[in-house]
Amino acid sequence: MQNVRIAIVGAGLAGLYAAYVLEKKGVKDYIVLEARDVLGGRIASTIHAEGQPDVSGEGFDLGPAWFWPAFQTDMAQLVDELGLETFEQFETGDMLLERSSNQPPERTAGYVNSPPSMRIAGGMYSLIDALYQRLDPARVVTGQTVRSLRISEPSIELLTEDAQSQSVSYSADHVLLAMPPRLVESQLTFSPALPDELARQWQATDTWMAPHAKYIAVFDQPFWRAQGLSGEARSAVGPMVEIHDASTQGGKAALFGFLGEPADVRRRVSEEELMTACRTQFVRLFGAQAENPEAEFIKDWAKEIYTATHTDERSSGNHPTPALSPSSGAWADRLTGIGSEWSREFTGYLAGAIDAVNRGLEHKNSNHQDDAMPESPLAQPLKLPCGAVLPNRLAKAAMTEGLADNQLHATHRHETLYGRWSDGGAGLLITGNVMIDHRVLERPGNVAIDPAPAEGEPEGMAQLRAWAEAGTRNGNHLWMQISHAGRQSPRYVTTRPMGPSEVQLSLMGNYARPRALSEPEILDFIQRFANVARIAKEAGFTGVQVHGAHGYLLSSFLSPVTNQRTDRWGGSLENRARFLLEVVRATRAAVGPEFPVAVKLNSDDFRKGGFTLDESVKVVRWLNEEGIDLLEVSGGTYEQPRLLGYSGDADTASDGPAMRESTRKREAYFLDYAQTIREVCDCPLMVTGGFRTRAFMEEAVANGETDVIGLGRPLCTDPDTPKDLLEGRIDKTVCHEDHIKLAQRGFFSPASPLMPLKVINVLGGQAWYYQQIFRLADDGKADPDLGIFKAIGAYLKDEMGQARRVKKARRQNGGT
Ligand SMILES: Cc1cc2nc3c(=O)[nH]c(=O)nc-3n(C[C@H](O)[C@H](O)[C@H](O)COP(=O)(O)OP(=O)(O)OC[C@H]3O[C@@H](n4cnc5c(N)ncnc54)[C@H](O)[C@@H]3O)c2cc1C
Ligand SMILES: Cc1cc2nc3c(=O)[nH]c(=O)nc-3n(C[C@H](O)[C@H](O)[C@H](O)COP(=O)(O)O)c2cc1C
Repeated sequence: MQNVRIAIVGAGLAGLYAAYVLEKKGVKDYIVLEARDVLGGRIASTIHAEGQPDVSGEGFDLGPAWFWPAFQTDMAQLVDELGLETFEQFETGDMLLERSSNQPPERTAGYVNSPPSMRIAGGMYSLIDALYQRLDPARVVTGQTVRSLRISEPSIELLTEDAQSQSVSYSADHVLLAMPPRLVESQLTFSPALPDELARQWQATDTWMAPHAKYIAVFDQPFWRAQGLSGEARSAVGPMVEIHDASTQGGKAALFGFLGEPADVRRRVSEEELMTACRTQFVRLFGAQAENPEAEFIKDWAKEIYTATHTDERSSGNHPTPALSPSSGAWADRLTGIGSEWSREFTGYLAGAIDAVNRGLEHKNSNHQDDAMPESPLAQPLKLPCGAVLPNRLAKAAMTEGLADNQLHATHRHETLYGRWSDGGAGLLITGNVMIDHRVLERPGNVAIDPAPAEGEPEGMAQLRAWAEAGTRNGNHLWMQISHAGRQSPRYVTTRPMGPSEVQLSLMGNYARPRALSEPEILDFIQRFANVARIAKEAGFTGVQVHGAHGYLLSSFLSPVTNQRTDRWGGSLENRARFLLEVVRATRAAVGPEFPVAVKLNSDDFRKGGFTLDESVKVVRWLNEEGIDLLEVSGGTYEQPRLLGYSGDADTASDGPAMRESTRKREAYFLDYAQTIREVCDCPLMVTGGFRTRAFMEEAVANGETDVIGLGRPLCTDPDTPKDLLEGRIDKTVCHEDHIKLAQRGFFSPASPLMPLKVINVLGGQAWYYQQIFRLADDGKADPDLGIFKAIGAYLKDEMGQARRVKKARRQNGGT
């Protein structure tokens, strides 16, 4: 008997993907048992169709053909990760409607799916091949039907049978059921029996697409396209009810259709007769050229005993999500359902198989702390050059809070918020912008320390101390981000922003023309940065970060577009970087050698003529001389908000440096650029922007691509994200930004050619996150259902109200 930790029953997409995930987590002790001789389950290709001509190795889909990466993001990521090529379903041209047998087919404008249905080059089976290639073949056994599962303490015994009725038994600690729930109930015997209610639920769950049959005809030409037809048709006549183009990416022409006749009716006719009827229908619709296909295939899924049962012949159309696992009795938490029908989000779809596996493994892990995966690289402490140690590799990136009072002091809400984030498990929390100049804020709710020393402002100091105490209550680090907004201070905050030169930020008129700083002002600001760092240290913050990114004052000095000075603070890169370098030097001098000093720097501004990756690399060489402890790599400015994964005004955008064609496109916006920086950087690196999956974060840290992962938006709604990642409870963070848009695609989306629409999308997203931060700061729960318009409304009201209050307080204090 072979003993394994995990037995996976079924080698369809769910079973193979589960094995792939386990391998990636370093779990090698599993076995996949598959009844069929061919892998893939409902993913089937004509390449394996017995007795049929192999059409020059072209894989036509007998099962699923499409997926929708625009919203099935985990599935999209897998396809990308496996390096599979995709292409859009052909939908160009008119479609045909067959309303009745005594009317000719009608031509009508074609239906175009939006977002488009995508196909995989080589057919969906390429997905199965690619997964299988990444597994140990000795751990995937085909032709072994699992018949029974028996608890034989301390393990579960699985009995299988091959085509010759030979039995083999396996023993496992846990069983993952990667098959439809109804099939589990009808195929497997459990000893002791499963709880009644669970058995009933599993039996009542329809197996997606099991009652269906598909006909495919391959032709030498896609002749329907020459007639301006898309190949799509709907028919009330039959035998096929829904027809589509099935041509391969390589250009091999084909059509397919779903048969409308119910399974019990189909059973009464021969395959030959069915094919003839389908061919005749194609001729009726598309003309005589359809008469002689090069090859034809029919796949009746209702006849597949490893997919359908008798009950599936007539689908109820009802797809409730059954329980994943018995919650009580002898089987409690020893079995987990991971087939697509167990998905909540995409029940029955391919993406459902991915979702169900992720969900199932999460569920299993949360009930099996003892079989925890090998310790994650994210859980390793990190010693910084100054001697301080970060307890793990996850950091909450800086996010402006907007929680200050009228005097721009920190408040009780900062304490609540940072206490909450400290409980969330990140080794490092970085505050949002804390400003060195009360006149030029990034938001009217920023905390400003200007320029009074700690002793001079006991009230403000007490608030800072309380903030620092709450934010470090779990032994994590809390660093203050020190900043000056420069030209990116909105009109409702100031009509006199400041910058290196008078280059105005053009963003729907919201930003006034800045005035150029004089040299004495620059020298004063250098001391203010250092002063705020000293105060932060005194208040109990455990480090500081100088904000040199995102287009704020220091970053605007780095860019030749915004810095047009001709004195020693402008012109050559050395001059443009002088302000930042002097600030870092003064800051280090103010806090001493043993206190963490970090810098946030753009890898690139993504702006034509702006600060580039090459320049960033040179600045990093100079920063090495200043002895910093952590360099955080980000990118973009208000004009090109790449920090959030968005592009800005196309006219002024630069392409930026070349990016590798890989999954990195999808996750971690700046990791590729950081590799160039890594080569010259002497201190540890933190990369922020877009990290969402644990596997990817672990890979980036394990490969030494970054030392610390910065996380922003996910923590606005789910403050426990770091803990959940570290403890293996989740594989992926929430990604609300995928949905918070005016529209997912097209004119009203963030990709709109119209600048105001782009801006509203980005602003709306930010407003949404600001509102979530407010909720956490009020000790409430996040509201993921908040609508984008409501968020924008609340944001504008809050911002304007706070701006008025701050101005009034300023006047009362005798300021300007
Ligand atoms: C005609 C058709 C068209 C479809 N079109 C789409 C589409 O366009 N897009 C989309 O997203 N989805 C589509 N689907 C659904 C999609 O195919 C499924 O969601 C997905 O393949 C399910 O994968 P799975 O691994 O959960 O289950 P399955 O693929 O059913 O895998 C279960 C595996 O378990 C094995 N098994 C069964 N019993 C035993 C046993 N006793 N012992 C060992 N092994 C056993 C089976 O042989 C099989 O390999 C379609 C399905 C069909 C049939
Ligand atoms: C609501 C919000 C506020 C932000 N405020 C700041 C800030 O004050 N300082 C800063 O350097 N970056 C700020 N950022 C950028 C984040 O630090 C981070 O770079 C960005 O959110 C990308 O990371 P993510 O993809 O994990 O969200 C902010 C981002 C968001 C969403």
